[in-house]
Amino acid sequence: MSSGHKKLETNISLMAIFIIIAISLGGLVEIVPLIFLDQVRQPTEGVVPYPALQLAGRDVYVREGCYNCHSQMIRPFLSETVRYGPYSLAGESVYDRPFQWGSKRTGPDLARVGGRYSDAWHYIHLTNPRDVVPESNMPNYGWLRDNMVDGKLVQKKMHALNALGDPYSDEDIAAAPAAVEGKNELDALVAYLQGLGHARSGR
Ligand code: HEC
Repeated sequence: MSSGHKKLETNISLMAIFIIIAISLGGLVEIVPLIFLDQVRQPTEGVVPYPALQLAGRDVYVREGCYNCHSQMIRPFLSETVRYGPYSLAGESVYDRPFQWGSKRTGPDLARVGGRYSDAWHYIHLTNPRDVVPESNMPNYGWLRDNMVDGKLVQKKMHALNALGDPYSDEDIAAAPAAVEGKNELDALVAYLQGLGHARSGR
């Protein structure tokens, strides 16, 4: 071993500094090109900001931590594309804050679940997953029925997202309270799930 290398391996402070430099460089190489790559910042064709009810559903999904068991990222491997459909593109997640990528899959990936089942199936499944999948260990979410969606709040969120660059029109925002009128959080969640992944799933 060269003396320089030996010094590095036996001096923990020096080692820590070099580890930080190595990780920072690796991080920069991964992150910086993405900042300039248009392809990952532009919405994939057919991807639009979430309509009001789906937006409310997305926030229920995030609040309830569905991502702890479900990813929304289909990897470019045959085993994944055969099961879930075309692999995910960055441009499909441009309106997701926070994004729902990940590798934690206690349950299946949901990136393209939209249209795979009927609305009725989702209501039954979310109320008691074991009614349709006997071996399921997914929790019950039927209680979401008891919470009504707050139209004014959805409208505020759309305003905020608009300021961040999501192209909601004034008409979209003005119509938001009417679009979620009388809907509960379970309705919103089902609408969100049914909207997932259409741009590339062909459904
Ligand atoms: C403790 C882990 C866990 C949590 C939390 C969880 N799920 Fe699941 N989910 C599963 C498992 C396991 C399955 C597969 C069995 C089944 O269909 O119930 C599943 C299946 C699903 C499916 C059917 C997917 C398919 O392609 O068949 C949907 C839709 C779904 N979950 C939505 C949700 C939503 C929405 C939430 C949050 C409100 C959620 N899950 C929270 C574990 C979980």
